[in-house]
Parts: sequence; structure tokens; C-alpha cells
Amino acid sequence: MGKGKVYKIGVIPGDGVGPEIINAGLEVLKSASSRFEFRLETVHYDFGGDRYLRTGETLPDSAIEEFKKLDAIYLGAIGHPDVKPGILEKGILLKIRFDLDQYINLRPVKLYPGVWTPLKDKGPEHIDYVVVRENTEGAYCGIGGFFKKDTQDEIATQLDINTRKGVERCVRYAFELARNRNKKKTLTCVDKANVLTFSGDLWRRTCRDVNRDYPDIKLDYAFVDAACMWMVKNPEWFDVIVTNNMFGDIITDLAAITQGGLGVAAGGNINPEGVSMFEPIHGSAPKYAGKNVICPVATIAAGAMMLNVLGEKKAADCIEKAISKALSEKHIKSLEAGRMGMGTSEAGELIAKFVSEI
Ligand code: IPM
Ligand code: MN
Repeated sequence: MGKGKVYKIGVIPGDGVGPEIINAGLEVLKSASSRFEFRLETVHYDFGGDRYLRTGETLPDSAIEEFKKLDAIYLGAIGHPDVKPGILEKGILLKIRFDLDQYINLRPVKLYPGVWTPLKDKGPEHIDYVVVRENTEGAYCGIGGFFKKDTQDEIATQLDINTRKGVERCVRYAFELARNRNKKKTLTCVDKANVLTFSGDLWRRTCRDVNRDYPDIKLDYAFVDAACMWMVKNPEWFDVIVTNNMFGDIITDLAAITQGGLGVAAGGNINPEGVSMFEPIHGSAPKYAGKNVICPVATIAAGAMMLNVLGEKKAADCIEKAISKALSEKHIKSLEAGRMGMGTSEAGELIAKFVSEI
């Protein structure tokens, strides 16, 4: 066995295409671990739609306690066509994010060389920024309810909770990231402060306050609607974006298509002081399940992010380079399902091979 550290990784393949993309991702991680001499000890968990349909259980609290002893979690996708929307998302994905206090959702937006983008006249030099999405509060906190449900007078509420502590730790992380990236040294706070005058004000005041500790970083603001337009028209203006949970969810799907699609977009649910979870940002795509056609690059990139956060930076860079090679040299022809020119598992094997050779 290699020298180096041993990392205990919880693996949750989940639903739909989850198991296929996770297998491809693990193949690449295995290759990185033997080349860079660390060890990954994986523990598999079968949480997901099938288990829920069989047992009625989403994710027990005991699993959360087990997860707390891991070094990281590697997740495929959650979502099952036979389960009502919300149950698995809240019961598994959001439960892990919230219970492990993974307060950062880190979503790099990077166009790899050779990859198609719908943005005319834009290339990899224009599309390279990171969205820091607050991940444990906002409209996702699950506070609200119905009044007079199923009547003509029905009312539904859904509270948008923004705490100074929650906003500040997220904003601090984003400033730190802008400093470490050392690119444009700009942080853009994306909000809707012209209408959401309370929460927007809290976010802007917090950004201004924290900016005092980061005088080398330029602080910018953009309303979320306008930001959507700039992300299409002038993505090169962005370096690091910080935003709330809901806006971050929405703008990162838009961002994903500008980098070629959901097939390449990875995300990290990070608790800088605890256990983090890494996943592709796409869903379980049930119609492609078991067909070996889905692109595993997003999951592989999520694996690289995981190694980066664990401190295996050389291995993470190497996986990034291997992805870049597979895409820029057109070994993988497209990120779209069924159009890669090879299967999911072959794409995993190819990138794993590049990781051992580059
Ligand atoms: C994401 C997803 C989730 C979210 C859903 C599945 C709960 O869309 O990770 O972006 O809204 O956060
Ligand atoms: Mn989303």
C-alpha cells in the first residue's frame, strides 16, 4: 500500500444515473490515489429513492452521526420518478447540507478548452468565475406552512431566513476565495436589494463590513436579474460571486449552460470546519439511467474538488488537467447524453488513464 494519508469517503450513488457516474468518478479517484500515494477508504450507502420506496426511510439521524466521522462524502444524484418531489430532496440532500452545516455551496463556472458554449464569441478566457452560494438558510430553511389548505382562501408561506452569522461566514469565505484566486480580485454580491430591502440590506452591509478585512478585494453589487444578463453578455466581468441559497441555485443552472451544460458543472457543499460533500450539480436523469450514456465529467470534476478540499492539491490539479485533455483533444466529443462518442464507463476509464500518465 502507498504511503500518504488515508481518507474515509462516504459514497452515496443515489438514484437514476447516480451509480454510473459515481463508478466513473471512483475509477478516476482510484487512479489519482495510486499515482499521488494517498488512500481512499470508501463506505457505500444506499440512500435514495429505491430505498425510500422499499422502507419508507430517507436518511436516519444515525447516518448523519456516522457521516460526521468521515473525511468527505461523494454523492451521485438524488431524485426518483415514483417519489413525490421534495421528499428525497429535503429528506436526503438538504438534510445532509443542513445537518452537517455545509454552509458553502461552491460552484466553479469554467469553460474548458474545446467545449461548446451557447455564448457567441466567448471562450475559456471569458468564462472562468466561481459562485459561492449560501447553502444552509434563505428560502431553503423549510419554515412556513399552509393556512386554509385546499380551500379558496388558501395561504402558503415560505420564509426567507437570513442571519447575520450565516451571511457573514459565507461572505468571508467568498472574500478569502477572491484573494486566493488572485485573478480580478473582485467579489460581486448578487442580490435583489432594490425590492428585498431587508435581506438585501443585510447582505450588502455585511459585504461592506467584511470588505474592511479584505481591502485588496474590490466589492461590487449586482441585482440578480441584471446578473443573469451579464452572465450571458459579459461573463468575463465576474471573478467570485456571492449570493443567497435561492438565487445561487437559479443562477448556477444558467452558469452551467454557459460552460457547456450540466454534464460538466460540479459543486461542493462545504463546511470548512467539518465534513463536506461533493456532487455534480445535475440531477438523477432517470430517462438515461442504466444506459451508460450520461457524461461523467461533472462527477469527476466534483471528485477533483473533493481532493482539493482534503488537501491533495496535486492530485486535484492532475484530474483537472486530465479532464481538460479529454475535452480539448475531443476524445469526449460532447457533454450531451449519448453524444460523447463513448460510454459513461469508457469516459471514466479514459480520464483515469490520463490521470496516471499526464
Ligand atoms: C441543486 C439542486 C437542489 C437545490 C435540489 C435538488 C434540492 O437543484 O443542488 O442545485 O435546489 O439545491
Ligand atoms: Mn439547482
